[in-house]
Amino acid sequence: MEQIELGGSGIKVSQVGLGMWQAGGPEWGEDVNDDDCVAAMVRAHELGVNLIDTAEVYGDGHSEEVVGRAIKEIGRDEVVIATKVSGGHLRYGDVQKACERSLKRLGVDVIDLYQIHWPDPWQQVPLEETMKAMEKLHKQGKIRAVAVSNFAVRDMVEAREALSDTDIVSNQVQYNMLHREIEKQVLPFCQKEGIAIIAWGPLAEGSLTGKYGEEHRPQDPLRKDHRFFTDKNMKTISGLLSVLEAVGKSHGKTTSQVALNWLLSKENVIPIPGAKRPSHMESNVGAAGWSLSPDEMSRVEAAVDAVRIDPFRT
Ligand SMILES: NC(=O)c1ccc[n+]([C@@H]2O[C@H](COP(=O)([O-])OP(=O)(O)OC[C@H]3O[C@@H](n4cnc5c(N)ncnc54)[C@H](OP(=O)(O)O)[C@@H]3O)[C@@H](O)[C@H]2O)c1
Repeated sequence: MEQIELGGSGIKVSQVGLGMWQAGGPEWGEDVNDDDCVAAMVRAHELGVNLIDTAEVYGDGHSEEVVGRAIKEIGRDEVVIATKVSGGHLRYGDVQKACERSLKRLGVDVIDLYQIHWPDPWQQVPLEETMKAMEKLHKQGKIRAVAVSNFAVRDMVEAREALSDTDIVSNQVQYNMLHREIEKQVLPFCQKEGIAIIAWGPLAEGSLTGKYGEEHRPQDPLRKDHRFFTDKNMKTISGLLSVLEAVGKSHGKTTSQVALNWLLSKENVIPIPGAKRPSHMESNVGAAGWSLSPDEMSRVEAAVDAVRIDPFRT
């Protein structure tokens, strides 16, 4: 699998990564268990995927513990571990403590990519304070690279101003065919500045797999009332899914593989589809290594453009 360097960090990650929020527990449904998640990570490694994403908040640390189990099986140097400090732990001392806890749960000495999960809108901790703490961790060798998540351009600019010896190497944001807000400002800014975009929710929480319909939708707490799965929005999405299925057929690819391939066609964008088991990962790596023809891309783009989902309405 092709690899992409994260910013100027020297850290190279597979063009498709793996999201492990799913390993946090039953939030994602009763069909998730630790052993399957570990097996998904081991299979990912066999298939050339080295980027594994987790966070201290996923299952209150449980996801990091499960990732730690997988690292023991795979080998520390074979994986790029991306984890996150939550938006509630952004004071200087809290960042340090959160990092220590994550290192322990992951069972490693260094975190490859340490991301600020979201900017803090409630406690109003100055971003400068948080970035100084991130830089200290970098100097101490506890993290290999500083990164952010869900940051607007203004947040990235402010964060970078506070860094003296390091830079932000990536911004992890929601990006998929149904949610394209970042195309307005964040994506062009990051592409210009050489900051990688790590795309979360690349399958729009599974709605772009084509396996869900009005008669069959996820029942887990996270998704049962999610905007992508309302009656109205599922109808809106169905036209797009038909196009993805038809275009995919001529390449022997599935609907979800076309949805991920569309993200891979964007410069410096690394999708991290979440997986509950090895079969998800086996399918998701099939998104890489091929391209849509210009005609097919135009057809797909037209279908993507035709879908309008209001973020706040069902
Ligand atoms: N930074 C942030 O704020 C943030 C926010 C959200 C997520 N994330 C990260 O991004 C990762 C990915 O996002 P996400 O998990 O929210 O959404 P996603 O990747 O769009 O969807 C994941 C879900 O799609 C289904 N799926 C995945 N691959 C499949 C396949 N090949 N065939 C059929 N179904 C498949 C699985 O659920 P079912 O089988 O149950 O349908 C899986 O749980 C997360 O794991 C997490 O690491 C970060």
